[in-house]
Amino acid sequence: MDLFEYQAKQLFAEYGVPVPQGKVASTAAEARAIAEEFAAAGKSRVVVKAQVKTGGRGKAGGVKVADDADDAQAKADQILGMDIKGHTVHRVLIEEASDIAEEYYLSFLLDRTNRTFLSICSAEGGVEIEEVAATNPDAVAKVAIDPIAGAPADVAAEIVRQGKLPEAAAQGATELISKLWDVFVGRDATLVEVNPMILTGDGRVVALDGKVTLDENADFRQDLESLAFAAEGDPLEVKAKEKGLNYVKLDGQVGIIGNGAGLVMSTLDVVSYAGEAHGGVQPANFLDIGGGASADVMADGLEIILGDGDVKSVFVNVFGGITACDAVAEGIVQALEMLAARGDDVSKPLVVRLDGNSAERGRRILTEAGHPAVRQAPTMDGAAAQAAELAAK
Ligand SMILES: Nc1ncnc2c1ncn2[C@@H]1O[C@H](COP(=O)(O)OP(=O)(O)O)[C@@H](O)[C@H]1O
Ligand SMILES: [Mg+2]
Repeated sequence: MDLFEYQAKQLFAEYGVPVPQGKVASTAAEARAIAEEFAAAGKSRVVVKAQVKTGGRGKAGGVKVADDADDAQAKADQILGMDIKGHTVHRVLIEEASDIAEEYYLSFLLDRTNRTFLSICSAEGGVEIEEVAATNPDAVAKVAIDPIAGAPADVAAEIVRQGKLPEAAAQGATELISKLWDVFVGRDATLVEVNPMILTGDGRVVALDGKVTLDENADFRQDLESLAFAAEGDPLEVKAKEKGLNYVKLDGQVGIIGNGAGLVMSTLDVVSYAGEAHGGVQPANFLDIGGGASADVMADGLEIILGDGDVKSVFVNVFGGITACDAVAEGIVQALEMLAARGDDVSKPLVVRLDGNSAERGRRILTEAGHPAVRQAPTMDGAAAQAAELAAK
């Protein structure tokens, strides 16, 4: 799970990693109020930073310096709602402007290839590290980290030495690096990246940016919930997440349910292809109900998809394996009954393709149930064509 910069910096601060002071705003008026607080404390220059989970915000115009509260409001107004690499900006971080003397790069990450942890450090920060690694590989140090020993002062000093950070930054960087390792271990992160880690005009070393990826497998001992900010995403995605479904909202009109990520991916392809003949109809979502397609899971899936106003038809594509098609068919029938009993609209056409284990029995169950919204197709391509045609109507 990736964190927003402001969340990353909150974690950093908890562990004593120096960060600029800042607060989050979701409106330009809030941004102004925060900038006024800073001004009252003698810091009228602030930086307005788009909070999106992607890098290169600076380049995209999502990081802007503001001279006073008026300016902060204007800049926040420009940045809020902006689209950065497909991410809409819902919040901005208003931060005291730092006096930057130099920018470095520092990260800890899980090095899967070498089955260890790794620190990457460079005196050439602020730009994309991949770029530095490509053009000037000698400027990028990679130091393997023993997970038991971690990064106490001597290891941190070695990282600083290999990263060729200047003497003026050595002490501050060493301290910051050790604390950053504490964040990495303490929060079960797979990545903590500070780009840039800066040296200020008055000689302090500060984390000016922060990227943190937490390991969701550590959910049992970490409070990921409080960091998840469910409200952030698409409301249907939020709801799907609550129900534990593997769902991604897309832009099209054909709702998709399938079992197995691979099958669902290829279902998106065939629907997209079939849609070309019907004015460019596209899949409305990705939804993998996985192995155990019980009535409950099917009902949850159908509820999400039928609740999507963009959806005009639904394609249920199931290849029976351990969960046989008759169980899936029962699931569909019961799910439609459950939803109808709750007053949900279940009139959108549902094209079902069952194949594999017990397909024959599954099809018979659907035929006998005779639900008016359900129609069956023997092949995946045929079903895709039907669903696309129905969506285009
Ligand atoms: N608080 C700040 N004070 C001064 N300059 C900043 C501040 N935050 C960011 N910057 C400048 O903006 C650049 C981009 O910001 P950063 O947080 O690294 O975003 P991104 O990596 O997404 O572009 C930094 O390299 C730095 O030069
Ligand atoms: Mg950065």
